[in-house]
Amino acid sequence: MSRLIIVSNRVARPDALNKGSQGGLAVGVLAAMADSGGLWFGWNGRIENRPVSEIREESRGNINFVTIGLRQNEYNNFYRGYANSVLWPLFHQRPDLMTYRHHYRMGYLGVNRKYVDHLLPYLKPDDTIWIHDYQLIPMAKMLREAGVSSPIGFFLHTPFPPLDLLRALPDHKDVLTELLNYDLVGFHTLTDERGFHEAIRYSMKGDISPSGLIDCQGHQLQTGVYPIGIETDDIPDLVKTGKHSKEYQQLKLELGDRKLLIGVDRLDYSKGLFHRFKSYEQLLKNYSDFHRRVVYMQVAPTSRGDVKAYGQLAQQIDQAAGHVNGTYADFDWTPLRYLNRGFRRNTILALYNLAHIGFVTPLRDGMNLVAKEFVAAQDPDNPGVLILSKMAGASAELKSAIIVNPYDTEAVANHLATAIQMPLDERKDRWEQMMETLRRNDIQAWQRNFRRDLVPRPHAI
Ligand code: G6P
Repeated sequence: MSRLIIVSNRVARPDALNKGSQGGLAVGVLAAMADSGGLWFGWNGRIENRPVSEIREESRGNINFVTIGLRQNEYNNFYRGYANSVLWPLFHQRPDLMTYRHHYRMGYLGVNRKYVDHLLPYLKPDDTIWIHDYQLIPMAKMLREAGVSSPIGFFLHTPFPPLDLLRALPDHKDVLTELLNYDLVGFHTLTDERGFHEAIRYSMKGDISPSGLIDCQGHQLQTGVYPIGIETDDIPDLVKTGKHSKEYQQLKLELGDRKLLIGVDRLDYSKGLFHRFKSYEQLLKNYSDFHRRVVYMQVAPTSRGDVKAYGQLAQQIDQAAGHVNGTYADFDWTPLRYLNRGFRRNTILALYNLAHIGFVTPLRDGMNLVAKEFVAAQDPDNPGVLILSKMAGASAELKSAIIVNPYDTEAVANHLATAIQMPLDERKDRWEQMMETLRRNDIQAWQRNFRRDLVPRPHAI
């Protein structure tokens, strides 16, 4: 098999692992590379103001990491700007949170070009290149213009919006043209793929065969649905080691007979934390029997804190958490523990194991690996219950979770009550069904399926 080149903005560099605030992408890609190894290129996570970026090369096992820094203005326009103030909110169906600036677009193209320029010297003709996520959409076009003829695939870890929303992006046709330059474009769900097809068909006048083969403006490419998985079989061992952590042991002791509800998310408006807190508050309001018998712990490390919408969110969430505790806490019971920090991955997995309910209710999410990891971390003889938003990609696969509409906070409260009281037999049935999916479609299956379909196709340059 040819050498795999992975490019993603965020790289799970050896020294950055286990920090706790990384999204699913870095963890997933690292696991996917475990078998085949290869080269992983991206941002080193630092802002440095030297005129020429220093390239850092490191190896761990069969993976070579090559990373570079960003200058302050690159970070502002590319990362804070176009990636996280334009594409992220739009792709998560929040055009109201989009701040569009022309220089953001310029900065975005500039950093993508910089990545291409720094990557080129590492490339060999028979490599397979796999680019990840919304930060790096233009890379294939730029690589092709530089003469690279290797197969280049793209995977979108976020949702892809319907055309009506995409049209709110002034450069949407440029973005679509950039995507045409890939040989394979992968999505988590059929809904995302459908959104892309709709845009290609009506905005770009492309032809699409029933199998997802696109013919458009001299480009041929394939699209496909590849829901990302987790390292299903490795999770129980990670849970075991996590149980040695002091956080796990202390929480277990403090909980006693109380049932734990757990949520773990980057502090992002797409995660629906405000609605989630309201649902929990509604539970406490409607079901006083549960007072003192449940504790909801929400772990939410700050993410993109210097992007405006995120700063506002942090305040709103603080207030909402304060309101729940202000209303219901007593000297011997804190109903909501909101922790604005990250924990080691093993510790989190052990906490999932301790919990009775995984509370995963994003307003919009590409996949959501917390949902999958929560399930895989359960004790088979006494599994917990997953409450999962229908707006998360994971709901297309984990059909035996309790699927909820996160906007309907009263219904979510009732579902929480059902979950708290669910009999063991039903918990086991639901869990078995979800585990079957997680075993069949694990992280290795994800990368295998994508790479199987990634073959070179004709492109007009
Ligand atoms: C999501 C995105 C990823 C991103 C991650 C962390 O999972 O899909 O592309 O890497 O969030 O976000 P950050 O902005 O910290 O890289």
